[in-house]
Amino acid sequence: MDVIGEDRAEPVVVERAAGVGGELVLRRAGADYEIISNGMFLMDTRNGESERLLVRAAVDAALDRDGSGTGGRGGEKPARVLIGGLGVGFSLAEALSHPAVGHVTVVEREPAVVGWHAGPLRPWSRGGLDDPRVALVRADLLDVVAADPAAPAGSAQGAGFDAVCLDIDNGPDWTVTPGNARLYGPDGLDLLARRLSPRGVLAVWSAGAAPGFQDLLATRFARVEALPVPVPRGEPDMVYLARSPRP
Ligand SMILES: C[S@@+](CC[C@H](N)C(=O)[O-])C[C@H]1O[C@@H](n2cnc3c(N)ncnc32)[C@H](O)[C@@H]1O
Repeated sequence: MDVIGEDRAEPVVVERAAGVGGELVLRRAGADYEIISNGMFLMDTRNGESERLLVRAAVDAALDRDGSGTGGRGGEKPARVLIGGLGVGFSLAEALSHPAVGHVTVVEREPAVVGWHAGPLRPWSRGGLDDPRVALVRADLLDVVAADPAAPAGSAQGAGFDAVCLDIDNGPDWTVTPGNARLYGPDGLDLLARRLSPRGVLAVWSAGAAPGFQDLLATRFARVEALPVPVPRGEPDMVYLARSPRP
């Protein structure tokens, strides 16, 4: 996400829709688009560096790569990635461009957001929803992760994701709807950990540092890393990586 600056083109409303989590508004500002959800500025198309890192760093960590495209064990099984939610599609496009990724499940609760990817937002997801490697699940991520992990392997409800990439809010301390907060608590983290493969990595996006959340991650996972991503103005975005869930 990028913060709106004073030098930006005045946004115009493209569409308003009743959403599952409150009203959704798609705005255009010059060549860019913005999503306002439940009265909160949630995402725009201006930058996307941290949303791409969220996926790339998680997949590389699962494969034990250093992110340079070199190293790693080689000959690995194609990686399975879970992305919640879709937003403007930076994370999805990044997953599909990663050479090690074989399957991507996208969980998005807002039909309007999905619909915008057949229209104005398509350039940012690069048509990824039509890719045969992608399964779109129109559902609340909390319901998906709370479902029985013994569901068939390969289903969104099943376990065995090498990267679970969580970006449904502005961060653990700044959720778009109150119910989402559960995912960042002890119970939610345990549900997310159940979705991971043995080599799996949980990646969590945040607009700014969330030290309390990082401490909590460390109680649930043996290896935790915080990756700051500088933004043009203000506090860096943060990507938290967690692996090796504690028994
Ligand atoms: C910040 S945007 C995601 C940005 C995305 N990483 C990208 O690259 O554009 C958050 C998305 O999560 C969706 N979302 C919010 N709460 C959700 C939930 N509980 N379950 C599923 N999707 C949710 C929103 O509708 C929105 O599309």
